[in-house]
Amino acid sequence: MRTVAHLSDLHFGRTDAKVVAALLHDLQHQRPDLVIVSGDLTQRARSHQFAEARAFLSHCPAPALVVPGNHDLEPLYRPWKRIFRPRAKFHKHLPGHDSMPVWQDESLVAVGLDSTRSLRWKSGALKGAHLDHLESTLDGASSDAVKLVFLHHPPSTASGGHPYEALVEHGIDAVLTGHVHHARVELINGQHGRSLVLVQATTACSTRLREDSNGYCLLRLDCDHMEVAIRGWTGDVFHTVRHHWFEKRAATWRTVPRPHHVFPA
Ligand SMILES: [Fe+2]
Ligand SMILES: [Fe+2]
Repeated sequence: MRTVAHLSDLHFGRTDAKVVAALLHDLQHQRPDLVIVSGDLTQRARSHQFAEARAFLSHCPAPALVVPGNHDLEPLYRPWKRIFRPRAKFHKHLPGHDSMPVWQDESLVAVGLDSTRSLRWKSGALKGAHLDHLESTLDGASSDAVKLVFLHHPPSTASGGHPYEALVEHGIDAVLTGHVHHARVELINGQHGRSLVLVQATTACSTRLREDSNGYCLLRLDCDHMEVAIRGWTGDVFHTVRHHWFEKRAATWRTVPRPHHVFPA
């Protein structure tokens, strides 16, 4: 069993310091094996905002994997940098963080894909190169390992490229996204009755709130069972506001109303 904390849309430059401190405290209490951040670490891709993001990642109680979001690319009002070096600051200020990171052990494979596009502001895409990268990464993976993909853009904001159903055919168990600042957990159905679980996190600690409060997703999973808890901010602490449980039978993930299998806390 692995525990993964899925954070998104930190937006350093527009954060609430009290929420940031409580978030780190909650992560330390939950003791994840891995922290995944699905993009928008900064508000405007400024150096001091990346420095704040890097400090936050260094305080996480587990290895942290990140992918860029649209806010982490040079803004459109700096057109030359946007076109020719859109991810320069991401790489400069987050050394050691590839924009397509991979985590792999005997129980878990997590692959980050960079869905941002330098000529678009809001929309992203799942491209053929992503699927090729995924295929070569998964080649050596154990068949018992649970397989996650994380990228900034959810299917509802992708335009062009491959539909996310293509991930089902690659044996992916869950896809973790952000961008719309709204928490959502649901099944994506592929062909032949196969499915995966879409986990979309709201903004973890920014004041750019839409209909949700701040929050993040805590996944406990093995190759047949998945529990997704939405940890929401109440004004004082993060606590579980919603639970989703899934079981996998014959390559198909299904929602289960009550857990047949409960992971140890
Ligand atoms: Fe965002
Ligand atoms: Fe975004």
